[in-house]
Amino acid sequence: MNFDLKTLELTAAASEKCDLLIALIPEGFKPGKDALSTLAAQALKNGDLATKAGKSLQLYQPAGTAARRVVLLGAGDGAARAVRQALLAVGGAIKAPQTKRVVVCFAAKAQAGAVNAAVQAVAEASYVYTTTKSKVEARTLNRCVVGVHSAADVREAFDTGVALVAGVEFAREWGNRPANHATPTLLADAAKTLAKLPRIQCKVHGPAEVARLGMGAFLAVAQGSEEPLRFIELRYNGAAKDKAPVVLVGKGITFDTGGISIKPAAEMDEMKFDMCGAASVLGVFRALGELQPDVNVVGLIPACENMPDGRAVKPGDVVTSMSGQTIEILNTDAEGRLVLCDALTYAARLKPAAVVDIATLTGACVIALGGVRSGLFANNDALANALQTAGDTAQDLCWRMPLDDDYADGLKSNFADMGNVAGRAGGAITAAKFLQKYVGDLPWAHLDIAGTAWKGGAAKGSTGRPVGLLVQYLLNAASANATAHVKAAKSPKVAKVTSAAKGSKTASANSASSVSAASTGAAAVTTAAPARAAAAKPAAARRAAQAGGV
Ligand code: BES
Ligand code: MN
Ligand code: ZN
Repeated sequence: MNFDLKTLELTAAASEKCDLLIALIPEGFKPGKDALSTLAAQALKNGDLATKAGKSLQLYQPAGTAARRVVLLGAGDGAARAVRQALLAVGGAIKAPQTKRVVVCFAAKAQAGAVNAAVQAVAEASYVYTTTKSKVEARTLNRCVVGVHSAADVREAFDTGVALVAGVEFAREWGNRPANHATPTLLADAAKTLAKLPRIQCKVHGPAEVARLGMGAFLAVAQGSEEPLRFIELRYNGAAKDKAPVVLVGKGITFDTGGISIKPAAEMDEMKFDMCGAASVLGVFRALGELQPDVNVVGLIPACENMPDGRAVKPGDVVTSMSGQTIEILNTDAEGRLVLCDALTYAARLKPAAVVDIATLTGACVIALGGVRSGLFANNDALANALQTAGDTAQDLCWRMPLDDDYADGLKSNFADMGNVAGRAGGAITAAKFLQKYVGDLPWAHLDIAGTAWKGGAAKGSTGRPVGLLVQYLLNAASANATAHVKAAKSPKVAKVTSAAKGSKTASANSASSVSAASTGAAAVTTAAPARAAAAKPAAARRAAQAGGV
């Protein structure tokens, strides 16, 4: 799907030929003299429309407009959250098969974050999974024009939104694929396609190498499966070589039966989503390839199946992790922490600035936070705050949970350095305490996405979360790097950042106005015009001015 940003007020939007024109009408809307404004003002006055986010009025070929259908849509306070909520409320109209071209027009001055949110909401509403269907009813929407009062002012937010769509859809695609179409090997192949993007490299380690590394916990989970494990290592080199990377570790259990501690049959199919942490790491790299921010990132994915088998690990077995610590595997269904602990030990070797693991780790987290916020655990307040703030900005929320040492009491074992489970109580926290034993003093955070990575029921499918949160966090980190560069150059802090910002604005405004959201499939990874990469670098400085660092 193609997104376009245009300087377009309601008057001009009315003459855009499209199947659906959505006019976002915020609180305090001041109507102009054009036909659409007049209609909106009348409808508001008569109580047939409200500015509350999501309230809408649909019109068919109203006089003076080139659009076939028009939706006047309440946009609340016009902020990201309200715009997202509003567009998703009319998601049916956006997804309708007769909608090929949509124009979303901000009737008042658009906030940058709201433009980003609009792009993502249109993509989210129109997304369709097709890979394993024989009668393909693909997404019909192929073009979305976002109309704002001044395109140059929100160009960067728009570009970020478009890149995020590519990342989120990559993550959704891999999350949704059934386990027989998303084996560890296929996941590794998907990672390799990302290495076609600029500044991205990918290395895949097989069972022999993982054994050589001494990853006994990871090997134990994989040993019950016919599918060979893969340990995927992605790198994005956006900053100087000596700059410590942020390491993202994604749980990649391509199917979790529970192993010998087997799960009940009901809804077991949903355990194909147990690699959504891994998918989110892939999605982040997809977006990094577009955005080219000034930061070094490593992505680590321990990928395998958790199966019951003659060779499967048994309850009570003791294994030695890469860290040398021994683990009594009391419940083979607590496998996520076993693959993650070895990946975390590997991560520590890379001397990272921060490590963030992302995992569909516990049913307990679903009980604690539901599907609204991901669970956030961290041994470092600055990192926790940076992630929480990034989530707020990206409308991809998380909530910090405690890590008191008392919660680790239940992990004691009579036969090993630790057990892999504690009691039922506080299950999301005890899982995090287990992981914490492998990170020492490193700034570390753990995102438990068991409740947020996918939806069950009629709308069953992966959400692509928390790609938005993570990408925003990395963009903020890149801004902090840019600020540091400016400081190192001994320039007057604020003035220098601001002028860099102005420069980037011009660069961005001159860059291509149309960017395509690349394919999300395994084979095709295409990158946008080089002009975007050129514009992206100075843009980091501009973000610094806006976000004030991490
Ligand atoms: N992948 C599951 C966690 C999960 C369960 C996510 C349900 C979403 C919905 C994980 O591997 C698991 O099985 N965890 C166990 C841990 C328990 C055995 C301590 C759980 O949460 O029940
Ligand atoms: Mn499990
Ligand atoms: Zn699992």
